[in-house]
Amino acid sequence: MLSADNSLDPLLKRPFSLFRWLDKDIQILYRVVGKLTNILKDKKPDDILEIIGPLGNGFPVIKGKARPILIGGGIGSAPLFSLAETIKHKKPIFFIGAKTKKEILYTYALKSIGINPIISTDDGTLGQKGVITNVLREFLTHHSSPITDYCIYACGPRPMLKELTLLSEKFNLKGYIALEENMACGVGACLSCVVNTKNGFKRVCKEGPVFPIEEIVW
Ligand SMILES: Cc1cc2nc3c(=O)[nH]c(=O)nc-3n(C[C@H](O)[C@H](O)[C@H](O)COP(=O)(O)OP(=O)(O)OC[C@H]3O[C@@H](n4cnc5c(N)ncnc54)[C@H](O)[C@@H]3O)c2cc1C
Ligand code: FES
Repeated sequence: MLSADNSLDPLLKRPFSLFRWLDKDIQILYRVVGKLTNILKDKKPDDILEIIGPLGNGFPVIKGKARPILIGGGIGSAPLFSLAETIKHKKPIFFIGAKTKKEILYTYALKSIGINPIISTDDGTLGQKGVITNVLREFLTHHSSPITDYCIYACGPRPMLKELTLLSEKFNLKGYIALEENMACGVGACLSCVVNTKNGFKRVCKEGPVFPIEEIVW
């Protein structure tokens, strides 16, 4: 949970994913959409930010041979990079989708760790035209390995995650999704981020944001 300084506007900290962990630094990848991110974009080196974290859980690294499939939608790709970096020895297949070319992020960083992402944009300005779940469905339909040898990791807009849940049921795939709900406190106290799961209501900031893909009730 991050605020740009000690001003009261915006009053609440905003949730951000950890894009990358380095020895002494963390990196955050953000899209300028509102009050806080507009302040952030004008920050200079050595300016001070206020951060509470890390909070919540992260993507579990599964043991065994299953090949990871990472799917990021828009700015939802942000938390997948450090996972890709951690599990690059498992040769993850990385799908990135966005509305348009400008919103396809950090492909340069992926290429620097040996991953060539499969890209789609809604308007066809980069990669295949259409939503990334269609590209994934096509891939799974014509897969060469036994289908259960894949494990999904995803973050992105709700419609994408919902469609992925259907695909995982259809193709009998296991996996994990990171949810992005509005958050007021980030530490489990306010219940503003609660989602319905097969095991009851859960707080995305505390029990999540990562959940097994089959657990969420859409
Ligand atoms: C777990 C989690 C991880 C996240 N990780 C990232 C990340 O890594 N990178 C990232 O960029 N984002 C991330 N987000 C999203 C980010 O927290 C939000 O986009 C945050 O609200 C941005 O803060 P802001 O003050 O700039 O925008 P806000 O002012 O909060 O605005 C957010 C959105 O609401 C709209 N809005 C604001 N006020 C109004 C209004 N009065 N009427 C209608 N619409 C309005 C804005 O146009 C904008 O689209 C994450 C969210 C979650 C829950
Ligand atoms: S944001 Fe307050 S409980 Fe999750």
